[in-house]
Amino acid sequence: MSNIQFIKTSTPKQRPDNDSLQFGSIFTDHMFVMDYSTDKGWYDPRIVPYGPFEVEPSLMTFHYGQAIFEGLKAYRNIHGDIVTFRPLDNIARLNRSAERLCIPQVDEKLVWEALKKLLEIEKDWVPDGEGTSLYIRPFIIATDPSLGVRPSDTYKFFIILSPVGAYYAEGFKPVKIYVTDKYVRAARGGLGYTKAAANYAASLYAAEEAKKKGYTQVLWLDACSHSYVEEVGTMNIFFKIDGVLVTPSLEGGSILGGITRDSVITLAESMGYKVEERLISIQEVYEAHRQGKLEDVFGTGTAAVISPVGELNWNDNIIKINDGEMGEFSKMMYDKLTGIQYGKEEDSFGWIEKIC
Ligand code: COI
Repeated sequence: MSNIQFIKTSTPKQRPDNDSLQFGSIFTDHMFVMDYSTDKGWYDPRIVPYGPFEVEPSLMTFHYGQAIFEGLKAYRNIHGDIVTFRPLDNIARLNRSAERLCIPQVDEKLVWEALKKLLEIEKDWVPDGEGTSLYIRPFIIATDPSLGVRPSDTYKFFIILSPVGAYYAEGFKPVKIYVTDKYVRAARGGLGYTKAAANYAASLYAAEEAKKKGYTQVLWLDACSHSYVEEVGTMNIFFKIDGVLVTPSLEGGSILGGITRDSVITLAESMGYKVEERLISIQEVYEAHRQGKLEDVFGTGTAAVISPVGELNWNDNIIKINDGEMGEFSKMMYDKLTGIQYGKEEDSFGWIEKIC
């Protein structure tokens, strides 16, 4: 057992109403922090008041983007318990991202212990409105004050918490997505499978262009042929074609292995659906739509949960799905997954970890 120091805030904040919750704009009273140096390893784990901290303008993260993060949620379930969903999978993925970005591995047990302690302290911040939760954002930044291009020798690890509602402004209604074959998010051999801050920076320009055209997000295609579907950046993507659930496979290493993605595959298979993880071209999606076989399209992610897609625009070929309304399968999966998270459905896969 490590010794996590706790310094309590002397100025607790007012908690927001459920109705006013958006995504990621309000932060709780405390955060977890620890430091790393090559000689000490990770040291000084502590929970301290949430707030600004001073760094040098030469901080390596600012210049070369050596930064990774995770996203998971704590829920107040219908029994009044505070629970999390597959947290150890997120912590394990943080270490996979760390390896690729030359960031030192964290002790997964210590991080889990720190998260539990932080959530116990902040339990009153977990909202109880329909579809609300406490978003958990662990992240690591490189902190050497240096301009040489190399891995940093020092780092900071944080966990911050934010009470949230739906990720998209549409709420849980279908989103419109623009398929880009002009820009790419990640190539084979790159950072695509990690939660590197750089992947999100790479997505911004195309997302802004899509927004100007009236679309909420971008669907990325593969970097080489610009024909195979990859992911949305803030979520993985699923198509239900002629009764079969199809999602791009993770094999090429350019797609994030989402924990919600994996949960949906497991749930769908357990319900008897056929699931295919494979290459799927945008042409195939378009043909399925033309033949009336495209039954549903939805994204999955911690922040996005299950987000139905109402329209895809691929070079001005408009693929309208379920007349722009939420599909039956999306709705069923949303209810099933959130049912497990909020304690309305049995947790047959042991995904829920109770905090308090
Ligand atoms: C999440 O779903 O937790 C993510 O990390 C996506 C995000 C960038 C909001």
